[in-house]
Amino acid sequence: SSDLITGGAPLSTKKVGEHLLFSLTRNHGVRTLNEIRTEAGKHMASQRIPLVAGNWKMNFDHLEATYFVQQLAWKLRDIHFDYRHCEIALMPSFTSLRSVQVLVESDNLKIHYGAQAVSVTSQGAFTGDVSADMIAHLGCSYVIVGHSERRKYHPEDDANIVDQVRAVLAAGMQPILCVGESYEERRKGIELDFAVGQVHDVTRDLSDEEASRLIVAYEPIWAIGSGMVATPQSAQDAAKAIRDDLAETFGTHVGESVRILYGGSVSSKNAEELIGEPDVDGFLIGGAALNVDELTRICQLTMNATV
Ligand code: PGA
Repeated sequence: SSDLITGGAPLSTKKVGEHLLFSLTRNHGVRTLNEIRTEAGKHMASQRIPLVAGNWKMNFDHLEATYFVQQLAWKLRDIHFDYRHCEIALMPSFTSLRSVQVLVESDNLKIHYGAQAVSVTSQGAFTGDVSADMIAHLGCSYVIVGHSERRKYHPEDDANIVDQVRAVLAAGMQPILCVGESYEERRKGIELDFAVGQVHDVTRDLSDEEASRLIVAYEPIWAIGSGMVATPQSAQDAAKAIRDDLAETFGTHVGESVRILYGGSVSSKNAEELIGEPDVDGFLIGGAALNVDELTRICQLTMNATV
């Protein structure tokens, strides 16, 4: 039957880029596909490498950005930071991306970087816009999509956000899709449905392969830049609800491989507790990512939680 795989044990996983590929080593034993999927789910869960992403917003010109990245790299080297256990990405302004790229490449740094916004079109008469290909050609790994500040200050609706996600994926990068309820939805007690609905609406037409390359940042709007952080339990509840919905739509393998970050007033004071939650796979950080000591400390706490 097609549900039976012979010679499929033991299962091993290998990380290639951001994707986990399975290699079934030839061995004895007969197991059903479902058994293998279940095992794969556990394996992949433990292989989600946490991501600490700094969203610099409209801060730092290219000189300041370069100086910051250099300092961060030195400080991480001083604490023997192990990049295998925690990935770091910075999101500078468009004007700083080239400088960051040159520094990262010339010094062979293991820090990744990306953009804060992207155009939905690939080229043409769109004054002021920047295409996904232009961003990808600068060596970017990530693009933030649907940040609440973009949704508020720029006319970005779900249809537009879907197109941004597609543009980023088509250019070979990973979108960091931001979702999260306002104070009003939380007051009504519908925060989980709201965040899950936002992810669902944007992702439902993606292929499984596209969905598996997604990163979701759960960022309650009331927590952004306010100093009010979600409790670890409510960050976990939201991450779990989003993961369950992704698993239902795309299958367990996608649900288990997508990294779900928490964002909103993350600092070195609350990072350890938050990263201790099983479904919180890292952070999207605004204010605290502008302070190199603070960001180094958060990276260290995140790494320590996984080793
Ligand atoms: P904050 O911002 O860490 O300053 O709250 C988070 C964000 O907007 O991504």
